[in-house]
Parts: sequence; C-alpha cells; structure tokens
Amino acid sequence: MLFAGRAAAQDVTIPVETQHNAIVLQTDAEKHLNMVYLGAKLANSAEYARIQKMYKQADDSGVQNDVYTPSGSASLGEPAITVTHADGNKSLNLTYVSHTVSKVSDDVSLLVVTLKDPVYDFEVKLYYKTYYKEDVTEQWSVIKHNEKGVVTLNKYASANLNLKGNTTGGFWLKQYHGNWAMEVQPEEARLTHGIKTIDSKLGTRANLYEHSMFAISLDKPATEDEGKVLYGALEWSGNFRVDFELDVTNNLKIIAGINNAASEYHLKPGVEFTTPAFLYTYSDHGKGDASRKLQSWARQYKIVDGNGSRLTLLNNWESTYFDFNETKLAGLLKDTKKLGVDLFLLDDGWFGNSHPRNGDNAGLGDWQENKQKLPNGISSLVKEAQANGVKFGIWIEPEMVNPASDLYKAHPDWVIKQPNRPEKYFRNQLVLDLANPKVQDFVFGVVDNLFTKNPDLAYIKWDCNAVIYNAYSAYLKKDQSHIYVDYVNGLYNVLKRVRAKYPKVPLMLCSGGGGRVDYGALQYFTEYWPSDNTDPLERVFIQWEYSFFYPAITSSNHVTDWGKQPIKYRVDVAMMGKMGFDIVIGKLSDNELAFCQSALKNYDGLKDAIWHGDQYRLASPWDNDAASIMYVNADKSKAVMFNYLVNNRYGSGTKVPVRLKGLDPNKKYRVKEINVFPGTGSVLGNEDLVLTGDFLMNVGINPETNTYHTSVVLQLEAI
Ligand code: GLA
Repeated sequence: MLFAGRAAAQDVTIPVETQHNAIVLQTDAEKHLNMVYLGAKLANSAEYARIQKMYKQADDSGVQNDVYTPSGSASLGEPAITVTHADGNKSLNLTYVSHTVSKVSDDVSLLVVTLKDPVYDFEVKLYYKTYYKEDVTEQWSVIKHNEKGVVTLNKYASANLNLKGNTTGGFWLKQYHGNWAMEVQPEEARLTHGIKTIDSKLGTRANLYEHSMFAISLDKPATEDEGKVLYGALEWSGNFRVDFELDVTNNLKIIAGINNAASEYHLKPGVEFTTPAFLYTYSDHGKGDASRKLQSWARQYKIVDGNGSRLTLLNNWESTYFDFNETKLAGLLKDTKKLGVDLFLLDDGWFGNSHPRNGDNAGLGDWQENKQKLPNGISSLVKEAQANGVKFGIWIEPEMVNPASDLYKAHPDWVIKQPNRPEKYFRNQLVLDLANPKVQDFVFGVVDNLFTKNPDLAYIKWDCNAVIYNAYSAYLKKDQSHIYVDYVNGLYNVLKRVRAKYPKVPLMLCSGGGGRVDYGALQYFTEYWPSDNTDPLERVFIQWEYSFFYPAITSSNHVTDWGKQPIKYRVDVAMMGKMGFDIVIGKLSDNELAFCQSALKNYDGLKDAIWHGDQYRLASPWDNDAASIMYVNADKSKAVMFNYLVNNRYGSGTKVPVRLKGLDPNKKYRVKEINVFPGTGSVLGNEDLVLTGDFLMNVGINPETNTYHTSVVLQLEAI
C-alpha cells in the first residue's frame, strides 16, 4: 500500500492506491482539498501531482471538486455536509489541515484526513480504509466541533466522490428498485445534467423500494468483461440517500450517506458523530471483475465466517405456515434427516400465549413458547432434532410488536408511534423503539434467552417485516429528528452484543424477503434471504442481480413449491448459492426424493467452489433464452456451470456454445452433467468428455438447455 504525501510549495497530493486503482486528493491554492482522480493507478506515482493542473479550474462557476463539499461558502454544488452553527449561521468552509496513514495489516491501510473550518471551531475527519488486493475502499467521516452550544447537522454524508467528465459517452447509472417478492429490479440509463437521487425513507426494511447499491459506468455501460465501472453501496440498514450530480463541466459528483430527510442531528461540543461507511470499488475490466472484487472482499472482511461453512436446511414456513404442533414437527425432523440436510429451521408461529401467534395479527413481542403447540418447549425440540442426527434453528422477529401482545400492554412507551395520531400498521404490527437502551436490552434478551436456555440451538433467522410509520420515540423527547439514525445504531448495538457473545452462530438476515440486504447489517450475519419469491424462474433473475454485490455463500436459496417448474429446476436454481428446502418431503415421489438426496451429495462436493470460489456470469437471463453462471475454486481444479432456461417459447434454448471463464487453460477437465433426474439421460450423452481449459474458454460448451432440459448443471474436474 502506498500513500505518498507529497508537499509542493503550494499543494499537497495524497494518492490512495490499491492494487489496480488510485484515488488522488490534492489541495488547491485556497487549501481546499479536491478529489482530482479516481481510476486506474498510474505507473509513475510522481505524476499524480500534475493531475489537477490538467483541468482548468472553473473557479468563478461555483463548481468545485471538494473532497467533502460544504455548503454556504464557496462551493455551490450539492453539499456533502450542511450545518447550522451554534450561533445560527449556516455557512461552512472546510480546508485541509493534515493527514495520517497507518497500516492495519499487510492488505489494509487507513488514511485519515483532517479538514477544518478556518472561522468556526468545526472539524471533519475523512476516513479511507483501503483493501489493497481487493481494490475496495470503505469511506466514512467523523464530525466534531467545539462551538459554544449545540450544532445542528442538516446533512452529513459518508462520502463525496468526484469523477471527471470524459469525452462524449457520459456516465451510466445502474440502479435497483423493487417491492415485496420482486426485489432488485435493475435499470440502467445515462445520467443527464442536474441531480438524480435514489433514497429510502422507510426507516426499517430500507431497501424495500430502492437500494443504495449502484454501478456507474464511464463512457458507456460496462459489460461483464469490458468497460470502466464504479460499484458503490452504503453500509447502512436505514434511510439512505445517494445523489448523483452531473454539473456544467460534465463532472459527476456522487454523495452517499444517511438520508437527512426529517433527520437533523444535534451535536453537542466535543462529541463525535460517525457516519456509516460508503463502500466502493472500481474496475476497468467490466462488471464481472468489479463483482469478484466485492465478493472476495465480503468473504475476507465483512460477513461473518465468510471463509467458513454453512448449514443446508429444511424450513417449515411454506409447508405448515402457523399450523403445527409437536407431532407434526417430529415428522419434519425425521424428514430433515431423510432428505439429508444439516438443520431443521422452525419458522414463525411458535410463541405467544395470551395472544397466540396463530396468524400474523398477534403475538409478536411475547417470545415464550406457545404451550398448546409446544407443551415441552424448544429445548425438547432441540433434543429431538439431535436424536434424529440434525441441528435445530428458529425464526424470530425481535424488533417488532403486535398490538395484540402482552409486551404492547406492558410497555406502550417502547413502541414507535405518534402520541396524538391513530396507529398505522404494516402487517398488523409496529416497530419497537431501538433508540431506547431498555428496548435494546429487551431485543438482545430475546436472542440471549434462546441460546441460554438452548445452548445447542444452531441457527437463527432474524426477520423484520414492518416499516416505520408515525416516527416518534417517547425516549428521545426533544430530539425526535434523531429517531431514524438512533434506531439503526440501536439495532447495531444489539447485533454487536449478540456477536460478542455468540461470534460464529449462523444468523440469516431476513426482512419480509430482501428488505434489508446491506453490508451494514451483513457484517453480523452469515447469510441473507433474497426474496420471499422463491419461484425459481424469478429467482434466476433475483439471484443474478444480487450477485453483482454479494457472494453466493450469503444467498439463502430455498427449494419451495412456488412456480410451475419441476423439482430439478428448483433444486438446480437453489444450488447456485446457499441451499435449503421448504417443501413437504412426504409429497415428493420416490424419484423426486432420490433426486434431491443425490443433488445434496453433489452439492457437498461442489460447495467449496460455490461458496469460496470465483463467480463468472456467462450468459445473462435478461438477454438470452438461458442464463449461465459458473464458479471456479481457488486452484482451478474444480468448477460448476449452472444453466437455466428462462424463456419457454417454441424452440428456445442454448443454441451455441457458451464460453467458460476463469479456468486454467493448460488443465484438462472432465466435464460431466450432474443432477440428472432419475430415468433421464445426460445432455452430454455417454461420452467421457475431457476438454482443456483452453478449449472451454475459447470455444466453449453448449449446455443444451431446451424446453425439455430446462436446467443443466455441468461439473468440471481437473484430471
Ligand atoms: C417473512 C419472511 C418469511 C417468513 C414469514 C413468517 O415474510 O420473509 O420467510 O419467515 O415472514 O411470518
């Protein structure tokens, strides 16, 4: 890692280099620190100092490249920070004071830049944590003042990037919107002048309608293997806002942070306000390369146990909903063993007595076993699971409360609701006020009690099904505008406590589907639930899009009865991530059960490549009759290629060979179709097919998907 602070007579140049890229910060004559470069790193780092001079400064246009744009002084672009000083003045100027660089490890470095207002005792420190090998940067800011009284932060972004305008092609934004059961719908378009904002104001389930993750391509939309592309996302599980401002000089300013809507933050003298991190990576080799960088970074540094193992499971949500008892569950535990998965996951409906959880209208908040359904409690189920040779996991939604619950009656002041307005429900429930430390203790206690009483409990699915309406915290009193920020920090406090006590236990991040998939939360979880939509045809698209940001090991893919596809297709689609089942095993035919059992054995042999290997998206479901995606393990000795027909019209299918990627050209691979349904043959026939990596990557192989073979899984083993 190289950070060479080079002080010329007038300016300071700070290059932030990673393996392939550089960000360059440089002061101007007025000591403003500008971001003058983000792109491929230069061979001669001495040339970074020359960059700024190549651009004519449009000094009188009000357009600047501030590294963190303040408002109310000389910069007239969209601000990263807006404040109201203790004396009521609203102007802020930030100039460079100093910077330090420290090494966190061989791979990781931390640059801290201090900026100060020359007039007010107000300071911003910008943090750049860089991961050299992965080309990833996490950037955040810490804001502090020593004014005589409280300063209001009106806007307080995490990061402010500036991309220099290029020739004619402009900047292309790929963004995501969605809704329940239709998460991560992509759109890509050229940015026009002015400001484009993507944001969320939902409080919880913040990604339900829009995501903070995005890609910006330079010149033209990047493809998988070509083009310059910046990927970014905020590590924050609440309201976010990302502004893209294309200014009159054709430069793009990206400002990402907590959404300041209704969220002015009151900061006392001497107290630090730390923003969440904004995460980004850049590649000039297309979206595939950028994704692999993010996926590898996430496995090494962010998600819990990213290099470790995961549990396959059988979930009972869609097979029983709320309707179960000990006898039914005993049968399901046997089915778990019979199927050959590691764990049984008991979903919603196991708790509540005075308000039994027999539907989604009661019981949330009362986390005691329902005595009618489970007279012998969770502990007997954990034991029974063990007797069957499987592990046991459980669903909770601890941030929520139904008005029909003992908790709501005992602690109305713990609930987010306006004191003088009628309550408004989302899925018949309200959100608990995690800004309140007592509520944090309660939520931590829900998890802690489960593990204390049942030390062998092996897995938790943490759900969050409601958004925040009528935002008001009885606890926050005069600081109501802190509620959205303090809620999320309260949630993180709880998750930190959970992880301090239970560092490795698998936790699934669920939010009525994928309403809360972000790296702010995922640093406490082992996996996430992409969508309640488990129709495998839909899942091909949903899982495809999440893969741009998240590694396969984090994607919980369950085989269910949604959709019209045969069991083989459903299993093949679930296999491209972390595999699970949510079907009635007793309803499977002998062949179907045998197929699932043997697919799980195949998965066992391939899971290292799927979970820890490199992923290559070969053929997009948006552009082709069939989607193809593959994974290669670290030493390129094993790979798997998944192919899914997504268009079922007459004659649809893979017509030409699909070129594989990431293999060793000099290795010979035995190619075999796996997950072949009993009684059907392999699309490859009976030939013992051995091909070189060279051939497979330059000529390719036709997986022969068609309306009869709607999904084909090919395994490649070096011989
Ligand atoms: C949410 C989850 C589902 C299921 C139900 C239970 O909708 O996304 O998977 O757990 O809650 O109520």
